[in-house]
Amino acid sequence: MEVRQAIYQRRSIRAFLPEPVAKKTLLQLVDAAIQAPSARNMQPWQFIVVTGKARERLVRQLVRTFETEAAAGQPLPAPDVPEPYHSRVQQFLEALQAYQQEAAPFDLLRGSLSFYGAPAVILVALDQRLAPDRLFDLGAATQNLLLMAQSLGLGTCVIGIAIRYKHIIREELQLPESVNPVMTIAVGKTDASQPITTFRAGRQDAADCLTWID
Ligand SMILES: Cc1cc2nc3c(=O)[nH]c(=O)nc-3n(C[C@H](O)[C@H](O)[C@H](O)COP(=O)(O)O)c2cc1C
Repeated sequence: MEVRQAIYQRRSIRAFLPEPVAKKTLLQLVDAAIQAPSARNMQPWQFIVVTGKARERLVRQLVRTFETEAAAGQPLPAPDVPEPYHSRVQQFLEALQAYQQEAAPFDLLRGSLSFYGAPAVILVALDQRLAPDRLFDLGAATQNLLLMAQSLGLGTCVIGIAIRYKHIIREELQLPESVNPVMTIAVGKTDASQPITTFRAGRQDAADCLTWID
């Protein structure tokens, strides 16, 4: 697959088949990720691949904590953002609402915290001692990973909500203090029987976020 195709065809997938992803494929994804540029070639990333029973335990803990907090009237706070971002978020959430079905209700929070059933979760982490501007390098690596997955016919979804429970991720995966969990990525085969997998988030025109200075 051409890079151009992978870029334009990739979209977040929010329903996966349970079929495991081969270890060598997961290694291929991480290998693609680390081809990304990084400041002074620091390569400040770490990848923790969570599958099988460990993934199940992590999901159980995340969902349990969410449910307990929700029952206590402390749902996950969604930080407010200024315009024009607020309207874009609203539009995104409303568009997802259209996929609500009685038989298979779509739930962004619980779905995210269970990685939408993806058999593999890749946690992208930064060395705790590094400054937050190195997050840029992790973003570049993550995009490489997503595009490689796309080219291999795999679905992905970056899941930031799980990172709100950093302490649980740390505890469950027994991460040392030196590891700062930054982002999780759900990886697996797309469950094309689920209508939600046809959802395409829109984009503004390139011209609207572009300034030419001659
Ligand atoms: C940093 C980050 C965090 C995200 N967190 C979540 C999440 O927790 N749950 C989810 O369903 N999608 C999540 N997404 C996916 C975005 O909703 C998605 O990328 C955006 O709506 C654009 O759609 P697309 O990826 O299909 O092009 C996240 C994406 C990024 C980059």
